[in-house]
Amino acid sequence: MAAHWHVLGAGAIGCLFATALARSGCTATLLLRERCGKSSRSVLVQRDGAITEVHTPVSATGDSGPITHLLVTTKAYDVRGAVGAVAHRLNSDTRLLLLVNGMGLIEELHNDFPNLDIYNSTTTEGAYRIAPLHICHAGTGLTRIGKPGQTRPALWFDQWSRAMSSCVWDANIDSALWLKLAINCAINPLTAVHGCRNGDLARRPELAMEVCRLCDEIAAISRAAGYMSTAAGLEQAVTDVIAGTANNRSSMLQDVQNRHRTEIDYITGYLLAVARRHGIEAPHNKSLFERVHKLEP
Ligand SMILES: NC(=O)c1ccc[n+]([C@@H]2O[C@H](COP(=O)([O-])OP(=O)(O)OC[C@H]3O[C@@H](n4cnc5c(N)ncnc54)[C@H](OP(=O)(O)O)[C@@H]3O)[C@@H](O)[C@H]2O)c1
Repeated sequence: MAAHWHVLGAGAIGCLFATALARSGCTATLLLRERCGKSSRSVLVQRDGAITEVHTPVSATGDSGPITHLLVTTKAYDVRGAVGAVAHRLNSDTRLLLLVNGMGLIEELHNDFPNLDIYNSTTTEGAYRIAPLHICHAGTGLTRIGKPGQTRPALWFDQWSRAMSSCVWDANIDSALWLKLAINCAINPLTAVHGCRNGDLARRPELAMEVCRLCDEIAAISRAAGYMSTAAGLEQAVTDVIAGTANNRSSMLQDVQNRHRTEIDYITGYLLAVARRHGIEAPHNKSLFERVHKLEP
């Protein structure tokens, strides 16, 4: 029987994955902060000018009823509070899948909920909110899911590979997450501080130099942490992402421009914590970390 997923974080990514799971035959219930007096809501997904309406079950986080499969799609800084809000509905059989940018969250969740079975993932799908429960699916991408030490896909994974056009089980999910973190550290804070699009990091020589300095530090930290292939290929990987997303405004830049909190604590903040553990100085990353914090509301 298909798993019943509860999706915590009914924003761009949460609505995208909840509707994809629903279309593949799962029940996917959106968890809202407040009761809305209805058992389902219509979620609108816009893509290439066409709008699809998906009637989606909803429940308030404070409701009762056990959750067997929980997909978490809040911003990184909201994860602990949001999972805390449904703690009374979790038990030792609950599977929790994190689909959130940044690292360090599994450690936080294990502290709070030592018995939870936690999976991790990363996606290059792109979506943004037009209005509450109305999103635009801006670009398709690849979703990697895994759990450190687990080479074989989880039993529920089959459903995911049917739901998303491109979704793989990654036996080395930690390496995939670290590579994403490393690339994010080299691009996102710099674009946020300079208010520029990704492509400007290659076009403007002073910014290209700064990318190189950041990559040197991130590569040294990656080596110390055992991520040798990230260390070896980082500069090329960053160059490729900058070229492939030249016209994009990074999510961190968008957060700064919209006067929202950023996910810097879980991106550069996590990198700096690893650097400290290994006694590595990372002055360029540290300075960017502080400058981004100064831009936050
Ligand atoms: N959007 C993308 O294209 C994309 C791509 C790859 C990765 N990601 C990552 O995916 C994660 C989610 O991003 P997003 O763009 O979907 O963010 P988003 O649109 O801001 O959605 C986050 C949702 O979480 C909800 N939330 C926060 N705390 C909650 C709580 N305690 N209880 C219930 N709901 C709560 C928010 O509700 P409120 O609005 O009421 O605060 C919001 O609806 C981020 O880590 C992001 O970096 C996003």
